[in-house]
Amino acid sequence: MLRSEGKIGVAELYESYINPGLAKLYRLMGVSSGEARGEGCFLYDEEGRRYIDCVSGYGSLPFGHRPLAVLRAVRDQLERMALSSKVMPGRPAAELAEALAARLPGDLQYSFFCNSGAEAVEGALKLARAATGRTEFVAARGGFHGKTLGALSVSGRERYRAPFYPLLPGVTHVPYGDVKALEKAVTNRTAAVILEPVQGEGGVRVPPEGYLRAVRGICDRTGTLLILDEVQTGLGRTGRWFAMEKENVVPDIVCLAKALGGGVMPIGCFVARPDAARAFWGDPLVHTSTFGGNALAAAAGLATLRFLEEAEIPERVAETGAWLKRQLVRLSAEYPAWIREVRGEGFLLGVEFADEARGGLVMSALVEQGVLTAFALNSHRVVRIEPPLIADRLVLSGVVERWAGVLARLEALVGDADWGAYGDREGSAGEAGRPQEGGEAGADGPGEGSLREALA
Ligand SMILES: Cc1ncc(COP(=O)(O)O)c(C=O)c1O
Repeated sequence: MLRSEGKIGVAELYESYINPGLAKLYRLMGVSSGEARGEGCFLYDEEGRRYIDCVSGYGSLPFGHRPLAVLRAVRDQLERMALSSKVMPGRPAAELAEALAARLPGDLQYSFFCNSGAEAVEGALKLARAATGRTEFVAARGGFHGKTLGALSVSGRERYRAPFYPLLPGVTHVPYGDVKALEKAVTNRTAAVILEPVQGEGGVRVPPEGYLRAVRGICDRTGTLLILDEVQTGLGRTGRWFAMEKENVVPDIVCLAKALGGGVMPIGCFVARPDAARAFWGDPLVHTSTFGGNALAAAAGLATLRFLEEAEIPERVAETGAWLKRQLVRLSAEYPAWIREVRGEGFLLGVEFADEARGGLVMSALVEQGVLTAFALNSHRVVRIEPPLIADRLVLSGVVERWAGVLARLEALVGDADWGAYGDREGSAGEAGRPQEGGEAGADGPGEGSLREALA
């Protein structure tokens, strides 16, 4: 059945059977081998080369690869039951819901389990409509909520939206961090405002102080629900259990996924306050998922919450993240022609380059040096540094050293050449004139577009 019998390279298999464009993207990023094994903060490729993983599966590997505490819990559960019959209630899911309610702020209490971040967002949008009887949404430019149609409709980057119009009607995108624009956009038809407390894929953007509190106020005054998407920021990533805690804001619905599976199982969920949640109580089958709440994923979730607490992970991330950011800011001062800004909190850090080409060069040179980083999906000029939450100063010193070495070498090689013509321009002409709900939904920023050109 398997024609390659292990003899064809993984890149060729991707080329022939998955997506040639993706195979090309890997090549452009300087990735020539496949991932073979993971251990803590390290990843080994098929040739046995070791990499420090500073992407962590976009945040889905909070404790690195194969963390024992979660593996054990999942293995134990596997001995009893893996997936649900769906006919009887399952204890692991029920206990995970209880643990989440205890950990989340305010009266966020009722969980719905699914399998990914996008699914969590889909469910949250549906619940908001059902709970308010309203149909419209306000979201932020640059926001990322997943790529299913509903989640994409509230996401704010034209590049990923344009091929799929028409999306959900009645979605207005406003600049992230702008209270006045948001206030103007919310009407008595708005079911919910959906935001990330820190934009991850938007290029690691931290909103101005007081923004989330002000948004909460606008929602309260207008009977609009607030959905906070903590799929990436939740569970320790920003140095707090939840990023929303920075401003003590309690949304009506929160979306979680990624880290909740402890790097072992896929899982997503949305948790709602009673007033919103009750919209799904009359007909509990109005929103369902076959795999959602399965025992293996729930066991992983419980072990994750336990480990986060026992190992005091959020506190450690706050401390080590601040140190790491200082090191990167120091580098940015040494290489101003390359690095525009270093942003973020905890272990969700973004390095904004002068243009996409420079970021790409640094990223592929880092791969050569054994460090994995990645573009932010909605801002290709920003390279994220998102290590596992267990990474310590020793591991991260190795990362900083390699960044310094790569920047020194590249600057000596290409100097501060002006690549404006190559990278610095607004989004491609192909996107112009597409229908957009509520105005511009976040065209590509300056300095972006070269990746797409390279792929063309
Ligand atoms: C904030 C946010 N929401 C939703 C998603 C979508 O999650 P998934 O890729 O699991 O569907 C992501 C993924 O990066 C995300 O960062």
